[in-house]
Amino acid sequence: MRILSGIQPSGVLHIGNYFGMMRPAIELQKEGETFYFIADYHALTSLRDPEALRENSRRVALDFLACGLDPERAALFRQSDVPQVTELAWILSTIAPMGLLERAHSYKDKLARGMAATVGLFNYPVLMAADILIYDSDIVPVGKDQKQHIEITRDLAGKINETYGSEPDQPVFKLPEPRIHAKTEVVPGLDGQKMSKSYGNNIDIFGDENETRKRVMSIVTDSAPVEAPKDPERSTIFKLYSLFASKDEITEMRERFEKGGTGYGEFKKELFVKLWDYFAPMRKRREEILRDKSYSDNVLARGSERANQIADQVMARVRAAVGLRTRGGEDRQNSRPRATGDGSVRASNAIAEKHQPASESP
Ligand code: ADP
Ligand code: TRP
Repeated sequence: MRILSGIQPSGVLHIGNYFGMMRPAIELQKEGETFYFIADYHALTSLRDPEALRENSRRVALDFLACGLDPERAALFRQSDVPQVTELAWILSTIAPMGLLERAHSYKDKLARGMAATVGLFNYPVLMAADILIYDSDIVPVGKDQKQHIEITRDLAGKINETYGSEPDQPVFKLPEPRIHAKTEVVPGLDGQKMSKSYGNNIDIFGDENETRKRVMSIVTDSAPVEAPKDPERSTIFKLYSLFASKDEITEMRERFEKGGTGYGEFKKELFVKLWDYFAPMRKRREEILRDKSYSDNVLARGSERANQIADQVMARVRAAVGLRTRGGEDRQNSRPRATGDGSVRASNAIAEKHQPASESP
């Protein structure tokens, strides 16, 4: 089973990224072959400062490693170290219906927040589909905000299979499944909305101690007085505390919320202590990694090599299936596309037969 996910280096990683994507991704290292990448091509849609992009990319690698990504098990790499993915994005864009992309929530939200409507922003889900399909991925661990992007990926893969695969036994692409955990699918930020790098409501995984305390103390609450009973289910403090605390501790805090007599300020202090302790071993690991200057670079170089191997295999299959010359070689056009009844063209079986999904080759 192949597992893949990506994270944009558009800022510094926060606890929403950690619980929504990084921790599940790290846990999945035990279950299959894992590929995790820094989505720097995607970050270009929002970040236009080259030095910041380089610096954030380095930081994402460092932070992911510090949080438990094991480079002996997982390939960690920069998206842009596998430029073939942009070629696949082009091929996918030739069959991607405009209407499908126009319905993408993430695109509409970004426009609503004032981002310019660039072609890159519009095409974001197509590049993401290419990221997933180029590694024959089975499972994609993400937060809920990415669910629709994975549905779009499945749609595009299905369209390519219909158009160019000799179905049902010889698809060009595997259809990936999202892996979303209900308890951590949307981690709330300081204002109770989804925590995001771009909303300014984030608590960073490796923030400075005073800054982190200040941010926790600034979580928005209602104005219930100290003595009043409080609703834990509607409290951002309680939701965040539940991510870090044990079952017993969660039950205890729930009872104290419901009983009244404790102010939000007190609960925030307890949340800060839990959060700070939770990441203590990871802060230590991060210091160690930082001391070895070439560690992250070596991990990224190895990861990119592995990712390139698979991407090259899959692209050879795709190029042959759609009728492009395969790199370095002969034109595999011995089996010409044949016309289908509806006037479109369909590759004959011989093309797909030569190109099984990469994971099935030895
Ligand atoms: P951001 O919204 O902060 O820019 P990204 O879009 O780079 O974060 O998200 C990287 C991964 O982290 C994705 O899988 C995304 O679903 C997940 N993620 C981001 N924010 C949250 C959140 N608040 N709760 C749960 N998962 C999240
Ligand atoms: N769009 C994702 C995000 O903002 C990042 C991403 C890019 C991704 N390509 C991917 C996630 C492929 C999973 C698989 O969070």
